Amino acid sequence: MPQITFILKDGTQKKIDAPVGLSLMEVAVKNKIETIDGSCGGSLACATCHLYVHPEWWDICLPDGARSDDEEDMLDLGFDIRKYSRLSCQIIVKDNMDGLIVAVPGSKPGW
Ligand code: FES
Repeated sequence: MPQITFILKDGTQKKIDAPVGLSLMEVAVKNKIETIDGSCGGSLACATCHLYVHPEWWDICLPDGARSDDEEDMLDLGFDIRKYSRLSCQIIVKDNMDGLIVAVPGSKPGW
């Protein structure tokens, strides 16, 4: 099972074993990761699942090469959007994500 590291607002790291096939939002909500609410249940209608993907993991989390137009539109409504922002409901956990690092809004991961 891939292990994913969430960097929290205070800089601490929480490592979570993430079942393949769940969205990163579902993993975060189940594990009570701060700021990740997933209010719309993953239907691209809220942006409460926003987080930052570590640059080294960007391509793995975005195999099609670009965020969808719907994701871009919803991110426009999000808080503190940055270059490596994603909606975590749009990232499905796969075997090749073992070691993935993401950070919640309000954190200062340095990327
Ligand atoms: S959970 Fe609402 S957009 Fe991701």
